[in-house]
Amino acid sequence: LEETILVVGGAGYIGSHMVKMLLGRGYGVTTLDNLSSGHRDAVLGGEFVLGDLADRALLDKLFRERKIGAVMHFASFIQVGESVQNPAKYYENNVVNTLNLLDAMVAHNVKRFIFSSSAAVYGNPIAVPIPEDHPKLPINPYGRTKWMVEQILEDYDRAYGLKSVSLRYFNAAGADPEGQLGERHEPETHLIPLILRAASGRAPDIKVFGRDYDTPDGTCIRDYVHIVDLCEAHLFAMERLMKGASSAAYNLGNGNGFSVAEVIATTERVTARKITVIDATRREGDPPRLVADASRARAELGWQPRFDRLDSIIEHAWAWECKSVTRLSEK
Ligand code: UFG
Repeated sequence: LEETILVVGGAGYIGSHMVKMLLGRGYGVTTLDNLSSGHRDAVLGGEFVLGDLADRALLDKLFRERKIGAVMHFASFIQVGESVQNPAKYYENNVVNTLNLLDAMVAHNVKRFIFSSSAAVYGNPIAVPIPEDHPKLPINPYGRTKWMVEQILEDYDRAYGLKSVSLRYFNAAGADPEGQLGERHEPETHLIPLILRAASGRAPDIKVFGRDYDTPDGTCIRDYVHIVDLCEAHLFAMERLMKGASSAAYNLGNGNGFSVAEVIATTERVTARKITVIDATRREGDPPRLVADASRARAELGWQPRFDRLDSIIEHAWAWECKSVTRLSEK
């Protein structure tokens, strides 16, 4: 049996870029996705299995019939506001279904796990840039699901020897530099793709959620990290576990903060389009400033972001937006 990497949620935004990268580096890949929000045509190769993490029999069959060298888990719900309205949906999928996956791994003796965690585990930071040992006080169910899984992973390592790396993403953005993949969330809630829709004419405007934050221009500051750099960190983390490293958690960000107003100004410059900006009220639960201290990932994983300029992140996402406009108009 040839060894394969199981990518759960490989049809989604980050997962699909990961599948492409793994294939490009010569790994065998099996994608498991229920297509609840992913796209079958975003999985550019390898084996595709349609199915759900709640289906333990399917997981057992998957692990029994393949030689799975590691599991990467991208299949979670990501909307903070929705997690407040409907926490059951988040605990069920992000925690219970993840537990199902981990139990299947333990049962089949698969011991390497890469987990998509989030800066949301820190809640409202007491200081930025945020190091990994910052207190974990998530302020919404979404963030709590991520922190719960991280704690479960610590216990599973101790009890069952399951080795894991939790990667705490700051703001994932950008698209495949070769233009094959990009962000296709429906509904879209993320800042950069929404600004780009306003630039392309797919949306009338961009709403700025609050200008009264305690930041230099009053808008929220985030650390945008290119999707390809994120995926590269997963690859390094997996390869490190394959060499016998112990479990760990890493922040993934560039360490540069950009305000909402700065992102809009950069997008206007990169796209050479005028964007209509509407001032709106604050969105509940948005911390004013989230910036990563990612020095641990750089030191231990040898991670070196290649697309750390906001311009490149927006350029790649803009190329994808222009393609999407064409694709949608041809339908
Ligand atoms: N924003 C706007 N207008 C919009 C959309 C966003 O002003 O139309 C602002 C937000 O208020 C925030 C910033 O742009 O200040 C970034 O917002 P995003 O929704 O793009 O990203 P978040 O920082 O809220 O979210 C990120 C990830 C989520 C994850 C969350 C957890 O993108 O998937 O962190 O903290 F759930």
